[in-house]
Amino acid sequence: MKVFITGGTGFVGRAISSRLLEQGYNVTLLTRSIGTGRSAPAGLTYLEGDPTEKGKWQGHVADHEIIINLAGASIFSFWTNNKKKLITDSRILTTQNLVDALSGVRGKEAVLLSASAVGYYGFRDDTELDEASAPGDGFLASVTRKWEETALQGRDSIARVVLCRFGIVLGSKGGALLTMVKPIRWYVGCPLGSGRQWFSWIHQEDLAEILLFLIKNKEISGPVNCTAPNPVTNRELTKEMAKAVNRPVLLPAIPSFILKAVMGEFATSLIYGQKVLPKRLLTSGFNFKFPTIQGALKDILA
Ligand SMILES: NC(=O)c1ccc[n+]([C@@H]2O[C@H](COP(=O)([O-])OP(=O)(O)OC[C@H]3O[C@@H](n4cnc5c(N)ncnc54)[C@H](OP(=O)(O)O)[C@@H]3O)[C@@H](O)[C@H]2O)c1
Repeated sequence: MKVFITGGTGFVGRAISSRLLEQGYNVTLLTRSIGTGRSAPAGLTYLEGDPTEKGKWQGHVADHEIIINLAGASIFSFWTNNKKKLITDSRILTTQNLVDALSGVRGKEAVLLSASAVGYYGFRDDTELDEASAPGDGFLASVTRKWEETALQGRDSIARVVLCRFGIVLGSKGGALLTMVKPIRWYVGCPLGSGRQWFSWIHQEDLAEILLFLIKNKEISGPVNCTAPNPVTNRELTKEMAKAVNRPVLLPAIPSFILKAVMGEFATSLIYGQKVLPKRLLTSGFNFKFPTIQGALKDILA
């Protein structure tokens, strides 16, 4: 079976493509720049093209049965107006171009797994959120809603579209965790804001298995929360990260107004959160290897 991945050179894409290759799939990675000296293991092909623009790359999509859409500029920086436009365009234009390319596979038994995020739910205090919960407000919630609506247009062409609402992905080779743990290693780590905001997360290895599970379980379509079953508060996360790297937490929490003054609107995604539960994965029988933050951090940081 052939898999086409946008954004497959990134942190999540590298994990899922190596797992797919292990399982015998052939993988095509669309990238804006192949660069020089990048060698591809057996079964993997790089294809150069910018997914935010229409182009020859779209002609290759119809040749694949599984399409995974991961492209998107990082959200982890100060959100200027230009940055917000980049965050939006790199997701919506990519997804629109991919969906347009799917018209070439009309009627075929193909599946689109399109990345989304728990940011869809907005900031919701202690409310427990599952796939049936309503979308929230704010910049990230609005981008994510548009991202999902665009991906769902794929239903006009192919059998299945799955909206994979990722929690924060934790892994040893990139992602947010390595940045979050740095100050703790330097004895200057502390909770952020109230510390009561929820952090919905997923171990990178579990996420790769979830995507394989969603490929194989053909009765699943629509939104799926790709998060561990035990979200934690920011205060618990800070305590557990400190334990995992054997450091004390010496400082009090950084007040929200300081984070907002330094980081602007981006700070909202640090000082507010959402408590998201993977209801559909649990009812479909998915087994998490890392259901608790303690197990995940021990595996990644030990
Ligand atoms: N990591 C998380 O914790 C997390 C949580 C929730 C949702 N997500 C979503 O999951 C997806 C994958 O996340 P990730 O952590 O693997 O991201 P990543 O490491 O930043 O990789 C994203 C990929 O997207 C492509 N890309 C970057 N900027 C782009 C732009 N301006 N236009 C078009 N393509 C661009 C890049 O591929 P090339 O440079 O090769 O073209 C890059 O490899 C993203 O859409 C992200 O929003 C991630």
